[in-house]
Amino acid sequence: MSAIIPLPEIGYAGGLDIKSAIHERVSVRSFDNRPLSVVDVANLMWSAQGYVRSGKRAVPSAGATFPLEIFLAVAENGVEGIEAGVYHYRHHYDKDSHSLKTRYNGPVIDELAAACHGQGCVEQARAVIAVLSEDERTTTRYKERGVRYCHIEAGHAGQNVSLMAVSLGLGTVMVGAYRDDEVVKALHLKEGIMPYYLIPVGHPVKKLD
Ligand SMILES: Cc1cc2nc3c(=O)[nH]c(=O)nc-3n(C[C@H](O)[C@H](O)[C@H](O)COP(=O)(O)O)c2cc1C
Repeated sequence: MSAIIPLPEIGYAGGLDIKSAIHERVSVRSFDNRPLSVVDVANLMWSAQGYVRSGKRAVPSAGATFPLEIFLAVAENGVEGIEAGVYHYRHHYDKDSHSLKTRYNGPVIDELAAACHGQGCVEQARAVIAVLSEDERTTTRYKERGVRYCHIEAGHAGQNVSLMAVSLGLGTVMVGAYRDDEVVKALHLKEGIMPYYLIPVGHPVKKLD
């Protein structure tokens, strides 16, 4: 597999309107085995940190310091055509933008679930979106207050992802209960990057009527 996986461009038509998406969103913690499509992944990544127009992304950022980085942990058969592993969403680079850069190929979800105290929603996820922050990009300008801004920005990204998931017919839950250092290790990341949110995604298990 190539180290760079280009993602399909975002189509703006279709999906739920924003009011319905807000109304329908609930935490989903049980997922079936159906894989996500690459189009699903493209939309989810874009909603978290995608480029929308010159210098602008899908979420606001204090002083446009943009501290957030989005990673994707993919389960075995979690995403059609993408191997299990960890990928970095590249959103604003001159080349290879709107793509996934392979960081690690191999099993990752079990270790990630263990870092999350064995939560079943992580174990069952087809993919887990990780919202991480290089706080220094923001604290260099805003000092201590910049940490608050990074937390707020992670919330913007997380909310966009959860509403996008609803719009795509997928389920998510926001996960904040985990050991930071173990998450960083499971995702094969460098130390010092703060994992502010994990967002397991999958097709909700259909409830019997
Ligand atoms: C910051 C934050 C951290 C959370 N962490 C977890 C978590 O670790 N595990 C989990 O199952 N749910 C977690 N949740 C989801 C909440 O339990 C859930 O949003 C709440 O029960 C309200 O239900 P709803 O999302 O269906 O409206 C978290 C939510 C937030 C906002």
